[in-house]
Amino acid sequence: MELRFGYSAICFSKFLSENGQIDTIERDEERSKAAIQNIKEMGLEGKINVFTGDAVELLPKINKTYDMIFIDAAKGKYPFFLSEALRMSKSGTLIFADNVLYKGYVMSDYNKHKQRTAVRNLREYLKQTLENPKLESEILEVGDGLCVSKVK
Ligand SMILES: C[S@@+](CC[C@H](N)C(=O)[O-])C[C@H]1O[C@@H](n2cnc3c(N)ncnc32)[C@H](O)[C@@H]1O
Repeated sequence: MELRFGYSAICFSKFLSENGQIDTIERDEERSKAAIQNIKEMGLEGKINVFTGDAVELLPKINKTYDMIFIDAAKGKYPFFLSEALRMSKSGTLIFADNVLYKGYVMSDYNKHKQRTAVRNLREYLKQTLENPKLESEILEVGDGLCVSKVK
């Protein structure tokens, strides 16, 4: 079983408060199964809930607020994930979005057909985040770019 499935949730679980919980969504059934298995092997099944399905369909059904939200799925859906993250946030919530610089394409004049939708939506994510007066945001040049936002 590859440890990379469920890896982020397993890492974040180290920072949970005593009764804290993590909800994570994976649409690929095999990856989801692998994540559930890895989480079980780490003894974290009582702390991490894996939902199998498309986040675009599942997120609107979740009516909870979270202290921290991590976006790391389809790049073309980042603006939608942001609107859902804001809906599930409160003052102090941290929203992390991974891969926002996407190999440097997002901050360049990249306009090739192949990744155009992803690049356009990542640019839109950053615009909506940086221009939102309710958020304090920074883009960190780590890995493929990490945007960290705090809800005021
Ligand atoms: C970069 S990996 C994230 C890995 C995750 N952070 C972890 O540590 O397991 C991106 C994952 O998002 C999933 N994904 C992409 N679009 C999705 C969507 N719309 N809904 C749910 N999962 C999605 C992919 O199947 C892939 O496994």
